[in-house]
Amino acid sequence: RGERAFEQDLAGRHVVISAGGTREPLDPVRFLGNQSSGKQGYALARTAVARGARVTLVAANTALPDPAGATVVPVSTTEELREAMTGAASGADVVVMAAAVADFRPARVATGKIKKRDGVEPEPVVLERNPDILAGLAARHGGRAAVVVGFAAETEDALASGRAKLVRKGCDLLVVNEVGGGRAFGTEDNEAVVLDTRGGERHVPYGPKEDLADAVWDAVVAEPPRVEP
Ligand code: CTP
Ligand code: CA
Repeated sequence: RGERAFEQDLAGRHVVISAGGTREPLDPVRFLGNQSSGKQGYALARTAVARGARVTLVAANTALPDPAGATVVPVSTTEELREAMTGAASGADVVVMAAAVADFRPARVATGKIKKRDGVEPEPVVLERNPDILAGLAARHGGRAAVVVGFAAETEDALASGRAKLVRKGCDLLVVNEVGGGRAFGTEDNEAVVLDTRGGERHVPYGPKEDLADAVWDAVVAEPPRVEP
């Protein structure tokens, strides 16, 4: 990362980052989850500390060493993540949703372990929608001072889908990953495009997640100050 680590361009800023993937319980021992390792979110936390930020890392089901200098808040379900992010984001300068959030959760959580019985078909799992945490954080306009950053993993038409998602979510920056072919999830490297609301695109070549993290902070630092209506 060369000179970068010594550039304190996030000094005085409080950044809040979510990492990992949420889990939605089916019963006391089972859950619906996803493949996110949390590595990109942790890379964001480490690089933000290196650039002088005060960092809160809301970590959903990760198994990674705590980044030195960051405050780590462990969570598991989407509701816990929403509460932790909403609380930490009030008064923050930058909010980054790098976590993979479950879009759906089981409508009912069994109080005891679900048992199988011979000759009895299993019950279908009924799902309901989870709230959109990023859209909620971005919608706190009329006083929202924070730069809000989202992530999106897309398998097709990554740029067009990303543009549409940036508008739909109401965030300031969207980091679009093209996934498939074993890329992104759980790997050490990442390739992405950082979109802003002015039509800008920063292409980050395939490389370490720290490089993508630094490109995200470059884009955050370049964001114009928010003009409140
Ligand atoms: N996100 C969120 N809350 C959700 C779902 C997603 O905050 N309930 C955030 C993710 O953390 C990410 C961004 O929204 O920063 C985009 O996630 P993605 O899954 O790509 O978007 P969705 O709106 O869920 O669209 P899709 O149907 O393509 O999954
Ligand atoms: Ca989703």
